[in-house]
Amino acid sequence: MIRKKVLIFGASGQIGRYCVRKFSKENYKVIAATRNKHQKAYLLKTQAPIGYLDIEETNIFDQSKLEELIIKSDICINLVGILFEKGKKNTFKNIHTIFPKILSSICAKNNKKFIHISALGLDKVKNSKYALSKINGEIEIKKNLPNAVILKPSIVYSVDDKFTTKFMSILNLLPIFPLYYNGNTKFTPIHATDVSDIIFNIVDKEIHSKDIEAIGPEILTFKEILEKLLKSINKKRLLVPLPLFFARISASILQLFPSPLITLDQLNLLKYDNIKTENGITNYDINLPSKIYFEKGINEYAYNWREGGKFSIKEN
Ligand SMILES: NC(=O)c1ccc[n+]([C@@H]2O[C@H](COP(=O)([O-])OP(=O)(O)OC[C@H]3O[C@@H](n4cnc5c(N)ncnc54)[C@H](OP(=O)(O)O)[C@@H]3O)[C@@H](O)[C@H]2O)c1
Repeated sequence: MIRKKVLIFGASGQIGRYCVRKFSKENYKVIAATRNKHQKAYLLKTQAPIGYLDIEETNIFDQSKLEELIIKSDICINLVGILFEKGKKNTFKNIHTIFPKILSSICAKNNKKFIHISALGLDKVKNSKYALSKINGEIEIKKNLPNAVILKPSIVYSVDDKFTTKFMSILNLLPIFPLYYNGNTKFTPIHATDVSDIIFNIVDKEIHSKDIEAIGPEILTFKEILEKLLKSINKKRLLVPLPLFFARISASILQLFPSPLITLDQLNLLKYDNIKTENGITNYDINLPSKIYFEKGINEYAYNWREGGKFSIKEN
């Protein structure tokens, strides 16, 4: 029996697909909003049993369509986000500030619960349009809906990510790989399963009015992450510290590619640790500890990047 209806924006993305599976398994009906039904339905349709998923195509700035979707749901979750800007409309400001502002105001008007996914460790960041747009999004949401839940994950990984999978592909090809800021930046990687469990529990246990930092079970530096990725794909590569001057030049060239490995904005972000803040409340404080350690998590899918696939012999 269907318990409640959850409307998810960005349902076709990495965290979104884990959420569709988790919510539908727990007998929630998911309304998945996407910009392109034909392109994304094949991804979404396989995530939930028949009757537990409706796919709705919408322009995220069409306010009357947004209201129509929100009215027929009990909870609204926003997972829409971008890593780099594209064209005049797909800007950080539009996606991370204006869209959450619109969504939260419609949720407030219709008295619906709203959960927004921002990102961890933005407060101290300088010179990043991404960080500024996410912070401004949080401010706008709080103005409209003080009891919205804002979840701030550290770096999220899974077989569906654009992080470990991309890095494993590149590490497979290149004999050397650059270490930005000497590889010392710290992260608390969290598996998409753990993130979707946290989101589900926020809904199911009716947690209100909290900024929650979503962190994994361990702190790893950028260099340690690369070393674990290399180990998991059975490759030895030279990890070379790249002076900032050259890092900036390479990022300014790479950001011209359609799906860049790194942009100047991301390079600025990478300078700052992505770990629990001093006074922040984390998933651990609300009794939702992360279960998956990075090495174990990536080993579930790293064989895709190993010669011989699943049956290759892994060197230690
Ligand atoms: N992944 C991480 O490491 C991480 C860390 C911290 C915070 N977050 C935040 O968590 C949220 C979800 O992350 P994710 O990794 O699941 O992202 P994702 O895989 O990139 O998916 C994001 C979804 O947003 C929608 N979207 C993308 N660009 C859009 C645009 N220009 N206009 C409208 N919709 C657009 C897409 O849905 P359709 O194409 O179906 O419309 C896409 O499936 C984002 O807000 C992200 O910033 C992620």
